[in-house]
Amino acid sequence: MEAKEILANYVLQYLKENDIIGLGTGRTIRKLIEVLSKEENIKRGSIFLASSIDSELELSKNGFKVVSLFSGLRPSIYIDSFDVLTNAGVMIKGGGGALFREKLLTYFSKYKIFIGEESKLKKNVKALEVPIEVVNVSVNYVMRELENIGYEVKYREGSGKIGPIISDNGNIILDVIVKTEELCEFDKNVKRIPGVIETGVFCKELYNKIILADNNGRIEEIEPSK
Ligand code: 5RP
Repeated sequence: MEAKEILANYVLQYLKENDIIGLGTGRTIRKLIEVLSKEENIKRGSIFLASSIDSELELSKNGFKVVSLFSGLRPSIYIDSFDVLTNAGVMIKGGGGALFREKLLTYFSKYKIFIGEESKLKKNVKALEVPIEVVNVSVNYVMRELENIGYEVKYREGSGKIGPIISDNGNIILDVIVKTEELCEFDKNVKRIPGVIETGVFCKELYNKIILADNNGRIEEIEPSK
């Protein structure tokens, strides 16, 4: 069994019938939705909020009840994955471009669990690519400002479209190279630039548990040290 499937099955123990469940975005979450679709009690009794159009569609397609973020409902539990976990317990998210809604749901959920392959744990890397979401009209100003203060920055392009990809919120995603030791500082400071809405940096205060797994079935639970 692949690590994503192991994680999806493992995390089921944290989900209860009649929960309000927040879900993130990506291949890990797609696998979790697939696994969850066999859990009739959860399907019948729980309500879902999701961090992207993709996850909302996957949930609806599989017969789950999905409500809009406009409902203002706060999930009792939020499950998501991540792209990178550093030695210091900081996650980088946003590989799927859903970082803003992911941060929103993480912040407003009561208990937050992130699941990922052990290979996403990057030890001793000096710098990492961090996605930031910016309002369209500000993109040139934000890029020049970041370059002026020494950052390497590029806008994210996808396939199937010429030019920058547009997020589910109608904004542009930039990828910025940031020193690993400065990730949480960058997260706070960059939002002072008008136009920057959110970053893909998730520091320790934003989660309760990270669960790592490898393809051999080895599972490790990490809780942020206070
Ligand atoms: C999407 C995310 C995802 O959680 C992250 O990219 C990991 O994705 P995957 O499960 O496909 O490895 O942050 O914005």
